[in-house]
Amino acid sequence: MSVDREKCPHDGTQAHGQGETARGWRVTALNIDIATVRGFLHAEEGAALHRHAQVAARRGPCLEIGSWCGKSAVYIGAACKAVGGILFTVDHHRGSEENQPGWEYFDETVWDEAAGAIDTLPFLRDTLRRAGLEETVIPIVGRSPVVAKHWAAPLALLFIDGGHTMEHALADWRGWARHLMPGGLLAIHDVFPDPADGGRPPFEIYRRALASDLFEEVEAVESLRILRRL
Ligand SMILES: C[S@@+](CC[C@H](N)C(=O)[O-])C[C@H]1O[C@@H](n2cnc3c(N)ncnc32)[C@H](O)[C@@H]1O
Repeated sequence: MSVDREKCPHDGTQAHGQGETARGWRVTALNIDIATVRGFLHAEEGAALHRHAQVAARRGPCLEIGSWCGKSAVYIGAACKAVGGILFTVDHHRGSEENQPGWEYFDETVWDEAAGAIDTLPFLRDTLRRAGLEETVIPIVGRSPVVAKHWAAPLALLFIDGGHTMEHALADWRGWARHLMPGGLLAIHDVFPDPADGGRPPFEIYRRALASDLFEEVEAVESLRILRRL
């Protein structure tokens, strides 16, 4: 077991210690060296998702929007596996705007020459296989609003970490929040109250959730916010 010791591209901070985050939280159940998984998640955020998923996954299915190569899926999925739960992870695997060639988070190692596009699905599959999560984490390959429209199962935990434009963030909020069961957890990544720290759309949907009076805040860790549906 190990925690993420890789530099987080979003906030430049670094995780500490083997098996323990800087805040002293232990993540005991990851069956993979998480530093070998490409991704955009701080170790403290991963530990928080892991901790909340261990409780939520006993109540019903978990779902995340934005698999990329599986970093958050490992943290949430390992918790699901520990309690006999399940995680669905939704992504078209073509990358977000900021992942495209010429943009800040372009990674040429996930470029598929034949497709002329990014393809992170093989990397997700490799991560899930190495982490022993193929029976627990179910990839859904498609655009988030299309999947949301046809989704029916009440969710115990929803993690929004998909497209970060206003169009995509709003579509995820509108399409998916209604699928949360009462008491279900809504986790949103890259919430930056100060615009100097990052883009506004995730903060905007976080603000809308609180303003709706249907959610209360449970925890804030780095740029991760966890809310509970009332
Ligand atoms: C920030 S990354 C997710 C990072 C991942 N959670 C991790 O822990 O490393 C965002 C992902 O959302 C996906 N995405 C963006 N817009 C989407 C949409 N409308 N439908 C499905 N996936 C989308 C991108 O392909 C990308 O893989």
